[in-house]
Amino acid sequence: MSKVLLVTGAAGFIGANFVHYWMEKYPEDRVVGLDALTYAGNIANLDSVKNKSNFLFVHANILDQDTIESLLRSEKVDTLVHFAAESHVDRSISGPDAFLETNIMGTHSLLKAAKKVWLDEALNPLNHRFHHVSTDEVYGTLKPNDPPFSETTPYAPNSPYSASKAASDHLVRSYHHTYGLQVTTSNCSNNYGPFHFPEKLIPLVITNILFDKALPIYGDGQQIRDWLYVSDHAYGIDLILGKGEVGETYNIGGINEWANIDIVKLICKLMDESFKQNSELKDRFPSAIAAMNGNSESLITFVKDRPGHDRRYAIDPKKANEVLGYVPKDSFETGIKKTLDWYLSNESWWKSVMDGSYQEWVSKQYGE
Ligand code: NAD
Ligand code: TYD
Repeated sequence: MSKVLLVTGAAGFIGANFVHYWMEKYPEDRVVGLDALTYAGNIANLDSVKNKSNFLFVHANILDQDTIESLLRSEKVDTLVHFAAESHVDRSISGPDAFLETNIMGTHSLLKAAKKVWLDEALNPLNHRFHHVSTDEVYGTLKPNDPPFSETTPYAPNSPYSASKAASDHLVRSYHHTYGLQVTTSNCSNNYGPFHFPEKLIPLVITNILFDKALPIYGDGQQIRDWLYVSDHAYGIDLILGKGEVGETYNIGGINEWANIDIVKLICKLMDESFKQNSELKDRFPSAIAAMNGNSESLITFVKDRPGHDRRYAIDPKKANEVLGYVPKDSFETGIKKTLDWYLSNESWWKSVMDGSYQEWVSKQYGE
């Protein structure tokens, strides 16, 4: 049976990738993409679907409970997939309030709307799903030889970002336990891929190399992250929506741990190779050190560490594998190659999100 999805945060990095994944795989479904278009949201991420008859974009804030309720009713939504969040740890350190508002109060607003329409008004008491997209960062930090995070690892969030996500996970759980809302939650490791906002490590390094800018490494660069290609996150959520048990949480990851310094060096090497193989890049990015046959690694600059920086994240995806049959489709080798190629082919995208012209364009489009 076809579904009607409400996807929050649809114009962000993972939300947009999820919308593309879903509409390609399930063309008979209807997708309503909702986004407040904060600095991290980019309507251009949805360009290839925006004119499809089974897609609707709604510019709204998840804190606006009335709008969410109206959409659930008018669009007869049966599946809500909740990506919308403030997502950057560094921003949560300098300004935590927005994280509490969107990630905690915003998630609660969605839960209240879903409960009211699906359960209290009995519009869909039996066949709905509220899927909450969360992060491995709620589990805190690991020592080098600790086992990876499983679904039973106690929560120990260390940043305002991860604390706000942890709070939202608990609220989602409580709406299932107390009111019977049909929820599932996924906790995923670090994603990378197309449409990743260039304040995050991987796209920041790619774009800084092209502009001959320093590659800032926090602290000693030995912090470890577990990287997953973004469409494999979408695939994991797809399996949870199809086969996951209501009330359960699933950890999604690809067993792919990298120290930050090693991943930055790898990107430098791959970028240098791209410049050697493709002479057109030298014309397009003449200031890049790689364009002068130099070594991008020379741009690496060690800077002050992030306060409270978590040392290591790693996901144990055993439950998703055994219960849902989850196995990521992309290896790190194929995923990072696709990512570099995407950034090299989509210069106008990352330039527009970085220089503010995109924000001006949105203001004109939406009359704000
Ligand atoms: P992102 O910052 O790229 O996108 C977030 C989107 O949410 C943006 O489009 C933004 O405009 C929108 N948004 C923010 N506040 C909103 C509000 N109040 N109302 C409506 N829309 C709002 O983030 P992302 O990396 O795509 O992350 C998506 C989700 O996945 C988040 O919940 C994040 O916690 C989770 N997650 C991310 C990662 C990762 O590596 N990026 C890993 C695991 C889990
Ligand atoms: P980030 O992409 O911000 O994701 P998260 O903090 O949610 O894991 O950062 C990934 C890792 O890279 C993290 O350990 C912080 C580090 N980092 C740097 O060393 N330099 C940078 O400029 C950035 C943005 C991150």
